[in-house]
Amino acid sequence: MFNIIITENYDQVSTEAFMIMKKTMKLENPVLGLATGSSPIGLYKKMIADRNTNGTSYRNAVTYNLDEYIGLPRYHDQSYWTFMHENLFDGLNIPEVNIHIPRGDAEDIEEECRRYEEELQNTVIDLQILGIGSDGHIGFNEPGTPFDSLTHVAELTQQTRADNARFFDDDIEKVPAKAITMGLATILRANQIIVLATGANKADAVYGMIKGPKKEICPASILQGHGNVTVIVDRAAAARL
Ligand code: F6R
Repeated sequence: MFNIIITENYDQVSTEAFMIMKKTMKLENPVLGLATGSSPIGLYKKMIADRNTNGTSYRNAVTYNLDEYIGLPRYHDQSYWTFMHENLFDGLNIPEVNIHIPRGDAEDIEEECRRYEEELQNTVIDLQILGIGSDGHIGFNEPGTPFDSLTHVAELTQQTRADNARFFDDDIEKVPAKAITMGLATILRANQIIVLATGANKADAVYGMIKGPKKEICPASILQGHGNVTVIVDRAAAARL
């Protein structure tokens, strides 16, 4: 079920992803599902370069982000809202009203989850970009998250908080303990999905996603049940395939 592309390095992973993005951008009103983290930054740079060099317009694009930390103000330097603006949106011309990111600073977080899920149920994501955690998470759906989960509050595992501490002065205590995330069933509704992974620390997760049992212990293994997933990896992340 997976289309697997193994490349030599991060830049080639980004190029392959960008080629798929270009096709999606030919749609009249492309709906993009976006991720934060290190994996998609190269792709985002290529999208911005494409706009600057070729004049490609992103005016008709609509975007939905996977997740957001709970407890950080929207304009905090480590919020995913800030990440997305710094790494992508500030370089494109997507109207701000077309950009959707769940609010981790909402007063009523449960209501915010319901509101975001409802918005997502009223649209179809044409292309969902995913990274994968070293524990096999997608979005913030950590091991054990039910496959039928919708947008919900997730507790971050110690592993994920340790992985993300690099953005919080290497202090795990500063990493928020919770996030709002699209659920696994939410993610699976996308028409097309690409998963980006590089580096040896992703090799086990990539193996679990593709070759492991389709079980909640590896959240990404739910993608085995989707008909249009492209996994783009470097050799280190593909080491166990
Ligand atoms: C980010 C997200 C996460 C990351 C994953 C990999 O919005 O939902 O699932 O995609 O943690 O992160 P990186 O790419 O930094 O290795």
